[in-house]
Formats: sequence, structure tokens, C-alpha cells
Amino acid sequence: MIQLATLACFFLIVYLYVRHLKSSSRHLHLPPGPKKLPLLGNLFNVPTSLAWITYHKWCKELNTDIIHLSVAGMSIVVLDNIEAATELLEKRSHIYSGRPRLPMLSELMGYDFNVGFMQYGERWRKCRRLLHIAFPPDDSQRHHPQELNAAHNLLLRLLEDPENFMDHIKHMAAETIMSIAYGIEIKRNDDPYVTVAEQGNKAIAMVAVPGAFLVDTIPALKHVPDWMPFAGFKRKAKEWKKLALMASAMPFETTKQMIDDGSAVPSFVSYCLENSRAGDDPAFEESIIRDTAGTMYLAGADTTVAIIWSCILGLLTNPGALKKAQQEMDSVLGVGVLPEFGDQDSLPYVMAVVREAFRWRDVAPIAIPHYTAVEDVYNGYRIPAGSIVVANSWAMLHDETMYPEPFEFNPDRFIKDGKLNHAVRDPGHAAFGFGRRECPGRNMALSSVWITVASIMAAFDISKAVDKDGNTIEPSYEYLQDMICMPLPFKCSLKPRSKEIQRLIRC
Ligand code: HEM
Repeated sequence: MIQLATLACFFLIVYLYVRHLKSSSRHLHLPPGPKKLPLLGNLFNVPTSLAWITYHKWCKELNTDIIHLSVAGMSIVVLDNIEAATELLEKRSHIYSGRPRLPMLSELMGYDFNVGFMQYGERWRKCRRLLHIAFPPDDSQRHHPQELNAAHNLLLRLLEDPENFMDHIKHMAAETIMSIAYGIEIKRNDDPYVTVAEQGNKAIAMVAVPGAFLVDTIPALKHVPDWMPFAGFKRKAKEWKKLALMASAMPFETTKQMIDDGSAVPSFVSYCLENSRAGDDPAFEESIIRDTAGTMYLAGADTTVAIIWSCILGLLTNPGALKKAQQEMDSVLGVGVLPEFGDQDSLPYVMAVVREAFRWRDVAPIAIPHYTAVEDVYNGYRIPAGSIVVANSWAMLHDETMYPEPFEFNPDRFIKDGKLNHAVRDPGHAAFGFGRRECPGRNMALSSVWITVASIMAAFDISKAVDKDGNTIEPSYEYLQDMICMPLPFKCSLKPRSKEIQRLIRC
């Protein structure tokens, strides 16, 4: 009886506290932000390209680490520094791990199978559990053999055909992920699995641009009949939906077939299928495995490629950094020796180059927006329920108090007395997102980028390309700035550093 009374008291106190919070928060102001029009809010000044730069400019002007925008009734909160992102998206991740509703992408195009866009709930949790098996946070070495193999295959392609280095790096990323996810060997750049997934990624990039489709602002439009003159978006969505289905189903069915005929090699899909067949609802379990594997290529290929391309671009702006990394490898490993994962700790400068690549031109400047369904209070400001919450990773990775001259590619910023300087924040924190939605492929991405960049620097001298008249071809340093930022095609010269290294790559 006494216990029951204690329990009742406890619930009463909690209820009163929540009511107090709710009623007191109603008097609080929203975070500051650019001036809003009645009803329309910031509809006409919300940025549709390079949003991270405008958001950061507003935060600076208003001297705040959080701003609020309202777009035709939609509440958007932007977090401009690591402290605000850590406080809300990590410490309070139980209420900030949702994703905004994306009618065009998820509901019409069928990309709700992608874990990155999935609503926070049971299906997402099941997918994340599987991703935890594939990429255990405490076992960063799980995929080293596939990553090393793909890096060495890349060196051979670069040796034989250096001009097409961008394609070869794409091939390396596809080869690594397809072998880890499905046990499928990718042989050609125009491999059908990769082609479909790439078309899918292009469609995502086009659709994810804020304001690209009116249906995202007015979701009811998704019900207009396909034949209506202004329903072009529905016809497009139908076409792209086929890609979404193919991107997740094609390689999955191939692996199933390989399991049935006994030719499957160990992979994420083969492991999960073999371990789930005894489950209660095999069809449901299978769909979770299919969706999780389908997300791996979409989430992991372009991101990895963009970082490695950016790293090469960065080294072109700072040839001294390449020299330092090469000298470090020559003196620690010996001349004409290729690095292995075991060498990581003895090559701090190489790690500094990789860190700088993740920071300099970060691949996902505003990551994937989070969503909160619950009203909250931060630093005296009211965060309305139903807000889209954007972490401005770009601002965090270009914070001049942490990274002076942030637009220079300068790996030395991470080095002190010949060692990694741990007082300088590892860009991995902001580059891979926050809280429960943090990138599950982080370890794999870091190790794959490290072995690839280290191997290329050990084997090749990288410099600006020269045309047939001997003139230097200056890269444009321009980027495709969608949801993922990728360098536009550029040229560079890759020359093997020695005869020994050529022999080593060929053997
Ligand atoms: C350079 C490489 C990569 C970068 C910079 C990167 C970055 C990110 C970022 C910023 C997010 C959003 C986090 C958030 O919402 O707070 C994310 C999500 C995700 N990433 Fe990565 N990623 C990379 C590679 C990979 C790889 C290799 C995989 C798997 C093979 C992967 C799988 C995922 C998945 C499944 C999500 C969605 C997580 C969720 O919504 O719960 N990523 N990534």
C-alpha cells in the first residue's frame, strides 16, 4: 500500500513538473533568426543553395549558436556549434533522433527503405541493430582485409591508367562496399549494380535540395492524380521509384541465389540471412536485411569517394604536405614499402592528412536533418514541437577558433612536436553526425579512406596536370553542392615514385 502511494506521488510530481515546463516554456522566446513575414515566415529568404554558409552568417550577425526559421509554418532550428549540437542531438538524443517527413523522397519515390531517411521507430531500430553487427563500434578492424585488397587493386589501376583516377577511386569504393554488404565482386566501372545505385544516388541528390519539390512543403499535393498537368513530379517519382526498388533488390537477390547454389562468400547479407532463417517472420526479417544492405552502398560509396577526391585536391594546393607524409612513410616503413593498417599509429602525419581531408571540404555540410516531435528548451529559448533540427557541420569544421585559416588545406594544424595534437578537435566528431543517428559506417569509412590515401601517397607523386604544351592545368576546385558535396571532375598527374613500388604494385 505504502509502495503504491509512493508510486502515485512520484507520477504526480513528474506530471506537475512536465506541466510546469510546458506552461513556462510557452512564455519563452524562440531562438533568434532572420526577420519573418506574417504567415509565410522566411519562405523568401530561406537559402536553397549553400545553406550552411547563410545559416552561419546569420548566427554570426545575431551572435548566437542557434537560430530559428519558419517556412510557411514549418519550424526549422539550426545549430551552429559543436556545443549546441552535442547538448541537443547527443545528450537529449531520445527526443532529437527523428527525421523530417520527406513526401517526395520517402513516400512517392520509395526511399523510406533507406535507413538514413527512416522515421525513428521499430523498423529503424532493427536496421541499426543489424548495422551494429556489420560495423561494431569497438571493432574497427572487421573489414580491413577487404579495404586493403581494394586499395591495392586501386594502385594497379592508377599505375596502368592514371588519367582516369577519379573513376578508379569510385570503383575502389564500390568494390569495398559490395564485397562487405553482398559478397559480390565488382569487376567493371559500368557494373549493373553500381550503375543502378549511382542513378539512385543522383535522384536522391536532386530531390533532397530544399524547395526542389513543392510537395515537400505542401504534402497534400501527393494525392493529386498523375495525369494532371502540374503532376510532373508524380510521374518523375514513379520512374525514380523503380530505381529505388532495383537498387535494394537486385544485389540482394543475387546473394540469395549464391547462397542457394553454394557459391556465396561471407558477407553481411549472407551472415544475416543464415542467422535469421529460424526467426518468427522470415519475410519481415528479410526485408530488414535487404533495406539495411541497400542503404550501405547509397550512404557509403559517394561519401567515401568525395573525401578521397577532396584529399587529392587538397594535396594539390599544398604539395609540402604530400612531401611530409611521404618522408614520414619512407623513414618509418622504408623506401618503396606500402603501408598497412598496423602502421597507423606510427604515421601521425598521414593521419593528419586524412583528418584534414574530412575537415577541409566536408562531404555532408548539414548532414541529414534531425526532427523533434517534443517541445524543448535550450539556453532559455523554446524549441517548438515538430521542428526540423539542422546541425551545421560545415560551421563546426570551419570554426577559426579551433582551426585557424579554416579554408586552407593544412594537415600541420593537427600536429604538435611530431605527434597528433589531441587539443585540436578530431573532425570525425562533426563529419559523421550526432547522437543516435550518427553514421554507423564511421569506422569503416575512416579506415577505408586512411588505407587508400596512405597507399596512394606512398606509391605516387601527385601534382597538377600539364597540357601538351607544358602549361599547368589549374583545377577549378569547384564542387557539386547537393546533400553530398563532391568535387567536379579535375585533372592531376600521378607518377609512381620508384621502380620498386611499381614492381610491388604489380606482384
Ligand atoms: C566518408 C564517409 C562518410 C561520411 C562523411 C558519412 C557521414 C554521415 C552523416 C553526416 C550521416 C548523418 C548523421 C546524422 O544524421 O546525424 C550519416 C548517416 C549514415 N551513414 Fe554515413 N558517412 C560516411 C560513410 C558511410 C559508410 C561507409 C556507411 C556504410 C557502409 C555509412 C552508412 C550510413 C547510414 C546507414 C546512415 C544513416 C544513419 C541513421 O539515420 O540512423 N556511411 N553518415
